[in-house]
Amino acid sequence: CERQDGRPFRQRLLVVANRLPVSAVRRGEDSWSLEMSAGGLVTALLGVKEFEARWIGWAGVNVPDEIGQKALSKALAEKRCIPVFLDEEIVHQYYNGYCNNILWPLFHYLGLPQEDRLATTRSFQSQFAAYKKANQMFADVVNAHYEEGAVVWCHDYHLMYLPECLKKYNSKMKVGWFLHTPFPSSEIHRMLPSRSELLRSVLAADLVGHFVSACTRILGLEGTPEGVEDQGRLTRVAAFPIGIDSERFIHALKLPQVQEHIKELKERFAGRKVMLGVDRLDMIKGIPQKILAFEKFLEDNPSWRDKVVLLQIAVPTRTDVPEYQKLTSQVHEIVGRINGRFGTLTAVPIHHLDRSLDFHALCALYAVTDVALVASLRDGMNLVSYEFVACQEAKKGVLILSEFAGAAQSLGAGAILVNPWNITEVAASIGQALNMPAEEREKRHHHNFKHVTTHTAQEWAETFVSELNDTVVEAQLRTSK
Ligand code: ADP
Ligand code: G6P
Repeated sequence: CERQDGRPFRQRLLVVANRLPVSAVRRGEDSWSLEMSAGGLVTALLGVKEFEARWIGWAGVNVPDEIGQKALSKALAEKRCIPVFLDEEIVHQYYNGYCNNILWPLFHYLGLPQEDRLATTRSFQSQFAAYKKANQMFADVVNAHYEEGAVVWCHDYHLMYLPECLKKYNSKMKVGWFLHTPFPSSEIHRMLPSRSELLRSVLAADLVGHFVSACTRILGLEGTPEGVEDQGRLTRVAAFPIGIDSERFIHALKLPQVQEHIKELKERFAGRKVMLGVDRLDMIKGIPQKILAFEKFLEDNPSWRDKVVLLQIAVPTRTDVPEYQKLTSQVHEIVGRINGRFGTLTAVPIHHLDRSLDFHALCALYAVTDVALVASLRDGMNLVSYEFVACQEAKKGVLILSEFAGAAQSLGAGAILVNPWNITEVAASIGQALNMPAEEREKRHHHNFKHVTTHTAQEWAETFVSELNDTVVEAQLRTSK
């Protein structure tokens, strides 16, 4: 098997994630169109090119009929994707319910949904049953496509029950599991009624990206420098910082259509500094806090009011979950109020778009930005901050970055770090960023650019998979002794 450039692939890889890199839209009984899915998981995995990879996941759509399923499977096969068909009830209970209403906020330290805690508590058991059922459905599809020698790489909080299901099918399967979100402290994790079952299931994997303290405190297991030992079996646990395919962004900026777009944007915002936010419209991204901080900046700095614009591009996400619907209304309300307060007949301070931008438009926007603002209340890594840096070789703009994003560890020396809950501090940092001398901007950018271009998605995947291979070989040696 060979790559497009003729070099052989490193290894066969089955990537298993709830979300496929493309989402399907039905155009007719047996016709489908495929659109890119949004989110950091997809972005990172698309940068992984050295493996002969197939991707197993949900296409984001309910397909109850056989004709539709066959046609969609065929369309997806061309993209090396294999669908898992989830019906509406499972999606409601597993994806909207257990994954996005319970695990997601909890793993990001936001607790359980504010207004319907009791209802959430009541539905725990049925939603967890649906979660296990969905994970089993993923396991069935993986098992049907697994061939000896391949590595199975499971992703994210949707699939914590998958490693155990897979090992029950085949104890020799090489199974890794990587979490793209923060893993909460054991004090938070222990609120989950299914806390032990989830941890034990993940421990069925051979290699896991982080989470030792919850295992030691909740399961009472011993953590060692290598990982966690449970009933004589060692699960290797380590941290694998994710990255982006920086070359793809750097290359895109040279394309004529992107250059044209950059020119248009520069003309459109001539005479004003451009601030940018790019997020899924998610409760963890701190979008209301970011906008309120911008308001405070305008309030405190009247001379900047007609000289700066905030572009907030927020792609709607998980729109069937009530918390997300509330967030959308809240953001619209705040943006409307601030534009009413500080807008003029010819300009508004905030352009808020509820939409996804295509890759080239996004690159152009990153390139013309003076200050990017990432205000996550918690975030696994936040790849938007990496993408911004990759597109800033010409401009050397400033990154204001939440200290609660994983990226604060890697880009902290180049960015201005802020506590997104402290609106006064964020407002002051906007002033600092807009007034920063060119020399300092250059120095900060250089630090971040070096990191983003050396800690790539490719490196992340290679390190994880080679560690997984080594772990399995080591385990075999241990058991044969
Ligand atoms: P998360 O994984 O929580 O979505 P990340 O910042 O790690 O957060 O990754 C988000 C990914 O989704 C990035 O690749 C980013 O470019 C993409 N994205 C987010 N919002 C938009 C948008 N409005 N338009 C286009 N792409 C977006
Ligand atoms: C985050 C999660 C991913 C998820 C993505 C988009 O990046 O870690 O697992 O795919 O958000 O969310 P969605 O619910 O649309 O898949």
